[in-house]
Amino acid sequence: MPRYHIREVVTGTDWAYAALHDLEVAITTELHGEDLAQSVEWMRHSSANERTAVKAVLVAVPGPVPEGTPMGRFGLPLAPAQPMEVLGAIRFELPTADNQHLLEDCFCTVRADLRREGIATALWRETVRVATESGRTTLLGWSEHHLAGLGPDAERLVPPTGEGWIPLDPGSRFARSLGLSLAQVERQSRLELPVPPRRLAELRTQAELRALPDYRVVSWVGRAPEEHLDRLAVMYRALSTDAPLGEVDWLPENWDADRVRNHDEQSHLSGHSLTSLAIAPDGSAAGLTEIHVHHAHPHRPEQWTTVVAEAHRGHRLGLLLKTANLQLLAADQPQARHVDTWNAGENDRMLAINDQLGFRPFSVHGAWQVRLA
Ligand SMILES: CC(C)(COP(=O)(O)OP(=O)(O)OC[C@H]1O[C@@H](n2cnc3c(N)ncnc32)[C@H](O)[C@@H]1OP(=O)(O)O)[C@@H](O)C(=O)NCCC(=O)NCCS
Repeated sequence: MPRYHIREVVTGTDWAYAALHDLEVAITTELHGEDLAQSVEWMRHSSANERTAVKAVLVAVPGPVPEGTPMGRFGLPLAPAQPMEVLGAIRFELPTADNQHLLEDCFCTVRADLRREGIATALWRETVRVATESGRTTLLGWSEHHLAGLGPDAERLVPPTGEGWIPLDPGSRFARSLGLSLAQVERQSRLELPVPPRRLAELRTQAELRALPDYRVVSWVGRAPEEHLDRLAVMYRALSTDAPLGEVDWLPENWDADRVRNHDEQSHLSGHSLTSLAIAPDGSAAGLTEIHVHHAHPHRPEQWTTVVAEAHRGHRLGLLLKTANLQLLAADQPQARHVDTWNAGENDRMLAINDQLGFRPFSVHGAWQVRLA
């Protein structure tokens, strides 16, 4: 008799999101020494919004499939309305607005007491089947690795770009066992708060000396004003093409005002954003930065998108936008303890600005990829 089987979680099964959250709290605490889980609300709202991607969550649950269990859209039995024990989970997205060759943002977790029993491999096999049946040819996934406590002789894996490394630990050994290759390494950096206000003001003044009066910066807290939606779309598209991609098989994203509105609406269901936008003399968007505060854990805001359009680089707009937004954060969330951000290891310019602001390396993430035959 099978010891476990795999089911699809659908929106409405609130217990499943609570169980996934518990799993993520345990895994992030194991990997990073602290709870860095996404909130239950975030997971639910993000899964429910399928405007630009099909969102999938598969869970391994004990025992065989009971007869008559209704089936879901991936040919798997659906998670029931009543709670079940969750042994492990995998989530992924199938983009529908662009990048339709990808199955992406895949992350797999298995309960610590149930490892090396093939549960993750079984979840992965279903994922590959879904990718094949959906006509996807490249699969992209993530692994996370804490830096603290690693000795100097820890075995390392270096991506083809030569930038950054991740330790050869259970996560990377698992990915390699599936035939995935390391395409890029991202650095998660952390800025302890508060940044001394005088330091922020000095850095902002330095940046303004180069950027003003040609450029102007507008900042807001909460939903994006309608008048800036087109500018934000230009910036999100620029981010999808301009950030270094390493070996990752990623194509430009299609953004328009509607997609920005939808993204903004969804992220404001469980938190709020602080945004600073640089506008060029001709009125076009020159740069953007965003910090997101999750209502469930406002002490750890996240630094999201930062981008300066190619034509407007070299005017210290990156530093100006980030200092302006951090000043906004100090007023909005004076109790916040730190901000985390994620950047490609080879993104020298962004990392230099972050270092100047006081961000320090916290963890590394591996971007793994496999192309299906
Ligand atoms: C990585 C993880 C998902 C693996 O789950 P799992 O159910 O134990 O994986 P499996 O039993 O299917 O292991 C498959 C293969 O991966 C490799 N592997 C997995 N864990 C390993 C370990 N601790 N040491 C060495 N190899 C390991 C082995 O080759 C293994 O095959 P084997 O047991 O026949 O030797 C689990 O350790 C976990 O949840 N880690 C924390 C989250 C994480 O790092 N996720 C990132 C991966 S996307």
